[in-house]
Amino acid sequence: MTALISAFPRRIAVLGSSGSIGKNALEVIAGSDGHLVPILLSVHRRTDILAEQVRQIIDRNAALPRWIAVTDPAADRSPLQQLPKTIEIRFGHDALCEMIRQTEIDTVLSAIVGSAGLTSTVAALEAGKTVALANKESLVMGGSVLTGFAEKHGGRLIPVDSEHSAVMQALQSWKMDSGQEKNSAEHSAGSAVEKIILTASGGPFRNRTLAELADVTVEDALAHPTWNMGKKITVDSATLINKALEIIEARWFFDIPAAKIGVMIHPQSLIHSMVEFVDGSVMAQMSPPDMRLPIQLALNYPFRFPGPSLKWDWTKSRMLEFYPPDYERFPAIPLGLEVAEKGGTAGAVINAANEVAAAAFLAGKLPFHKIVSICRTVLENHTFDPNPALEELPAVDRRARTEAEKMI
Ligand SMILES: NC(=O)c1ccc[n+]([C@@H]2O[C@H](COP(=O)([O-])OP(=O)(O)OC[C@H]3O[C@@H](n4cnc5c(N)ncnc54)[C@H](OP(=O)(O)O)[C@@H]3O)[C@@H](O)[C@H]2O)c1
Repeated sequence: MTALISAFPRRIAVLGSSGSIGKNALEVIAGSDGHLVPILLSVHRRTDILAEQVRQIIDRNAALPRWIAVTDPAADRSPLQQLPKTIEIRFGHDALCEMIRQTEIDTVLSAIVGSAGLTSTVAALEAGKTVALANKESLVMGGSVLTGFAEKHGGRLIPVDSEHSAVMQALQSWKMDSGQEKNSAEHSAGSAVEKIILTASGGPFRNRTLAELADVTVEDALAHPTWNMGKKITVDSATLINKALEIIEARWFFDIPAAKIGVMIHPQSLIHSMVEFVDGSVMAQMSPPDMRLPIQLALNYPFRFPGPSLKWDWTKSRMLEFYPPDYERFPAIPLGLEVAEKGGTAGAVINAANEVAAAAFLAGKLPFHKIVSICRTVLENHTFDPNPALEELPAVDRRARTEAEKMI
């Protein structure tokens, strides 16, 4: 009880508040009865959404944010003029990183999209904060360098991705009382784990043939069957590169070899992932597909409270299906396993190549089926470094982008 009282109210920095995760997080915060307080908000350029978010906080008579960061200095500043003068507003990534270091901030929700989220994730970990990590790209790029950095500075990573949140919960079911892995890192899978099985909806093209994948449109790719997300991750879910990034993320989050990570297609998106233990027992986490649940768990971690996320209607029949992924139609999965195995600079390279290729597809400059092949070629052509320093990653990212751009 004392631990619970001293853990709240918790002051949350919501990075990327105008995005899909950011908006869901603000709903979770609004429904938290004052347990969670939004102390810092950041957007890149959608200042109109930001101003509306602050207006809604004022309408609820809730505590106002103290800081706002707009990372694109060229963003339209006019919507910000109506904001209360008590809020400090600053521009640029450096300003955001300085704000993140404020001692009043307890938890940083890292929900900026893409490699742009790396510097703020690093700043939060360096300041010893708890980071609720939606920006999987940080961990894909940084790998063990990032987890080692977090440990060194007393920062802590809590997963927001629904799959990793599911794995964390499944692992806790056993770790909590056993003490078997007492000295291992907080989320490490440990020797009792046989396999982590990440589930994937299969995206909008689950049933398309290889030939049909050649001419899918942007509109087709953005029509995800079960999740409503930002554009980049929706395209990543259609190519299944998102699952590749999640395999790499799982490798580092749970300190588990790539050979012990598997993927199953589960079209209903009700089981968010599973852990198989060495004795054959499998623990799965189930809930309707609603990102507010893993966000809420990460922000309140390790406590659970009622919240706004959808509940399952247990009076209705349900079918749960599982299929092994087709590696020929979706070569992103073996690519992800390979990168997770390699480590080093491989994660930063595949991430950068994918960001360039996915953006080109969204801009109508690249056919859908070329996205993953560009990632593979850029990966194969790069000069691999097994032990890059954190400071070297932006340069690795830039080189991979240039290579990918040349191929478009
Ligand atoms: N959406 C989901 O359900 C989901 C699930 C699991 C994990 N994730 C992960 O969560 C992260 C966010 O995804 P999302 O779907 O919420 O993305 P999104 O809807 O596209 O939102 C992206 C957010 O990042 C900001 N942003 C964009 N470029 C930026 C830059 N260069 N510098 C600083 N901020 C920038 C955007 O600001 P502006 O709006 O001002 O441009 C926006 O607030 C991604 O890493 C994704 O993989 C998402």
